[in-house]
Amino acid sequence: MISMDLFADAPEPAPSAEDPHARMLALRAQLHTWAHQYYVQDAPSVPDAEYDRLFQELVALEAAHPQWVSADSPTQRVGGKPLEQFAPVRHAVPMLSIRTETDTQASGAAQFDARVRKELGLGEGDAAVQYVAEPKFDGLALNLRYEHGVLVQAATRGDGETGEDVTQNIRTIGQVPLRLLASAPSVLEVRGEVYMRRDAFEALNERQRERIAQGHKGEKTFVNPRNAAAGAVRQLDPAIAGQRPLSFYAYGVGEVTAPEQGGPAFGTHYDLLQTLKAWGFPVSSLVELACGATELVAYHTRIGAQRDALPFDIDGVVYKVNHLNLQRQLGFVTREPRWAVAHKYPAQEQLTAVLGIDVQVGRTGKLTPVAKLAPVFVGGVTVTNATLHNEDEARRKDVRVGDTVVVRRAGDVIPEVVSVVPPSSDDGHAAPRGEVFTMPATCPVCGSAAVREEGEADYRCSGGLYCSAQRKQAVLHFAQRRAVEVEGLGDKLVDQLVDAGLVTTLPDLYRLPLESLSALERMAEKSAQNLLAALEHSKQTTLPRFVFGLGIRHVGEATAKALARHFGTLDAIMNAALEDLQAVPDVGPVVGLSLRTFFDQEHNREVVRQLRACGLTWPEGPAAAPLKRTLAGKTFVLTGTFPTLSREQAKEMLEACGAKVAGSVSKKTDYVVAGAEAGSKLTKAQELGVPVIDEAAMQALLADPEDGA
Ligand code: IVH
Repeated sequence: MISMDLFADAPEPAPSAEDPHARMLALRAQLHTWAHQYYVQDAPSVPDAEYDRLFQELVALEAAHPQWVSADSPTQRVGGKPLEQFAPVRHAVPMLSIRTETDTQASGAAQFDARVRKELGLGEGDAAVQYVAEPKFDGLALNLRYEHGVLVQAATRGDGETGEDVTQNIRTIGQVPLRLLASAPSVLEVRGEVYMRRDAFEALNERQRERIAQGHKGEKTFVNPRNAAAGAVRQLDPAIAGQRPLSFYAYGVGEVTAPEQGGPAFGTHYDLLQTLKAWGFPVSSLVELACGATELVAYHTRIGAQRDALPFDIDGVVYKVNHLNLQRQLGFVTREPRWAVAHKYPAQEQLTAVLGIDVQVGRTGKLTPVAKLAPVFVGGVTVTNATLHNEDEARRKDVRVGDTVVVRRAGDVIPEVVSVVPPSSDDGHAAPRGEVFTMPATCPVCGSAAVREEGEADYRCSGGLYCSAQRKQAVLHFAQRRAVEVEGLGDKLVDQLVDAGLVTTLPDLYRLPLESLSALERMAEKSAQNLLAALEHSKQTTLPRFVFGLGIRHVGEATAKALARHFGTLDAIMNAALEDLQAVPDVGPVVGLSLRTFFDQEHNREVVRQLRACGLTWPEGPAAAPLKRTLAGKTFVLTGTFPTLSREQAKEMLEACGAKVAGSVSKKTDYVVAGAEAGSKLTKAQELGVPVIDEAAMQALLADPEDGA
């Protein structure tokens, strides 16, 4: 067994390297503690640079003494050779499935409670049964096996009896401890769900789309976070798996050393989860104790209301009888425990019919086939359109008018056709299907020729800004939340502005007279004033947002950030030679050429000049400034509404200085930045004595970190 004091509160490792082996052990212990604070507690205690420094020292020591490299070393998270295939793993304790409550209404919870009470022989007069209520994560079940405190194997569920050995890939997940934090039983199997956060999924797909556009072969996008997580877990090359950001939540155990052999004696499931947390596993903060049917129903309703706003997909909640002796008493039916149930929410994927396929014109003239659907309620909204991305995708999925398709919508992601349901041919002669989709030869909006360049997946309208659809999209792209953000400037309004001839180029937005605006249909004087105020507000922006907002082909948010960081100023970006552009991480020949082409055109430079003349500004840094990590290691929490910055802008500015922006306040928070109507986070900060500052003080810190400290 590993002694506890080595990990719980690791002493600062001795600075000298007299005994390299002892130094290696001390370094590992320290790095494990910091990794746990960073990945699991979301509360780093040292700057990243400090972690990196010790990490590099460990790498060097291990290179000099390869005989001492151990599987649980933090250096072993990435690497390893690509596998040919995964070895089968027989589970010591089968991985069971769980019964699904068919009633998706809140009343389903009451039915489960009624069944449990009946099985336990409880009457009306008896006390309420205590449960643990948990989210049902939509990922993949994993079994993590620790022997003497060290991760020795990670396996998928497989058929419940036999799974696959995915240890190498799972090691790359920062949230999975390689070694337990505190004294643990000699055998411990932890079960939980590996999943991909929605933001990570969106970023991954965005990256994949950029790669596909750049002509990388064999790349694809993923249908949903679950599918992307499954792909990463079962990726044969651990180096690629390591680039797919996965997360993990623990929700149970498999084989554990018996109490008679010195193992732990848990009384309740809730205790078990708390112990897992103490051993270093992430346990969801949404896990709660619930007494009786009423509290289960309340939990189901409450989590259901939060579902779309959660950073990850859940497909329901799970209720588990809390007391383990009651669990034992209830036992199993075939392969499902009687003491647990999954209570699902309405699905984020649904079947519907394709009524037609339209072609929409995008910002850069891209022609996108869009399936017109029979209205279907999915992921909380009624969906009537779903993108088919491009001609190849439409053909690969072979979507045709009249087909029945699977439509997916989760969170606020745009609805998508996932696949076609094969037409049934029960009666031997299936109904004839519609025509295979083909792109029209001309733009459906302006009639210009539709062209597909060599090696491109997309057709484009060749009309440029002659095409009103492209003008509209360019404005919408510029005004969106992730670009310069003009609140309230949505598609209906842009349609009107462009159709009325009020906006032809972006700077026109900032020259709109109040009278012309108020004269638009459905536009009262008040809303016109609001729009002007929003336009005024949007003038203070950031360089990456501005560059992204220009809508240069292949320049997504990530690329815009990288460009801003590398060059510091807009002029430097605009005037950079192709080879200088290519020195920026992520910028290859295609993106570089696209940037050069854009900024070589006088009319584009003129748009930039005029936007600046209209008052658009952003902070600029020194040319070729590397990331100034002046706030590295500091954790901020943002709450309320700020006078000039949006929360997103503030977050970006802090992160650009190396600070971390966390979602909740803890003792480890360095500053809470509070704006108007700050809520519980402010109260919590005051309780914990965390310094509370306003936007102005935050700006001062960004300018000079010594100032406010
Ligand atoms: S408990 C005996 N808890 O749902 C009970 N499962 O079981 C075993 N799942 O693929 C499962 N979130 O991976 C449990 N909070 C949670 C869960 C959960 C997701 C998954 C699990 C399995 C499926 C059905």
